[in-house]
Amino acid sequence: METVRAHFEQEAPVYDGTILKLIPGYRQMISAVVDALPFGPQDEFSLVDLGCGTGSLTRAILSRFPEARVTALDFSAAMIGEARENLKNERIRFVHRDFSKWTWDQPYDAVVSSLALHHLITDEDKKHFYAQCFRHLKPGGMFCNADIVLANTDMLQKAFMGKWKSFMMQSVDADEIEGQWMVKYRTEDVPARMDDHLIWLKEAGFKYLDIIWKYYNFAVYCALKT
Ligand SMILES: C[S@@+](CC[C@H](N)C(=O)[O-])C[C@H]1O[C@@H](n2cnc3c(N)ncnc32)[C@H](O)[C@@H]1O
Repeated sequence: METVRAHFEQEAPVYDGTILKLIPGYRQMISAVVDALPFGPQDEFSLVDLGCGTGSLTRAILSRFPEARVTALDFSAAMIGEARENLKNERIRFVHRDFSKWTWDQPYDAVVSSLALHHLITDEDKKHFYAQCFRHLKPGGMFCNADIVLANTDMLQKAFMGKWKSFMMQSVDADEIEGQWMVKYRTEDVPARMDDHLIWLKEAGFKYLDIIWKYYNFAVYCALKT
């Protein structure tokens, strides 16, 4: 966790440009989360953005739902600092905290995240975290996550990695991909299989699960607390 945090402390000033070169469909993933939220444009609702980073998802949500009240949480001071600069909006409460240790402070209408929850390390951490999300959602509340996932077979996983690298090769050179981003992926990221996420969400009590967007090893999935 400390390595991950240190990485984002360093990365923060250039993060917004870098992420577009590394993640295929980054903007589509953010839009898909916004599209999944079961609210009208003028509804007032409470939402937490876990691992908010520089604030792209929070910004997109507030632009569609200006009456939402957002808790934007991240454990990197530099990333939160960028988000504060980018989003000067009194409807946002910034929380500088580790989401795996956070004491949830209120029930929420929505829990969202983008490209952050794969930092939860073990399957048990992930299951426990989904149970926490379920417990702290109001009835009718939605969980939605945009993230990196694993394929179900080694063969498909190899194909997914090839597709991901081909995307990065459009703007990043091969040495940087292998020497920097693949090293980071292997040492800091702990994605799980899409199937397992759906099982764990169901075990936590969620209903009406859906994968609303997918491109090889990137997915946006959501689930309702009825
Ligand atoms: C790849 S960035 C994604 C940022 C933003 N959600 C986006 O879509 O651009 C991952 C973010 O999650 C944060 N993060 C990772 N693990 C965390 C944890 N355990 N608690 C809080 N924040 C965490 C990092 O500091 C970083 O800002």
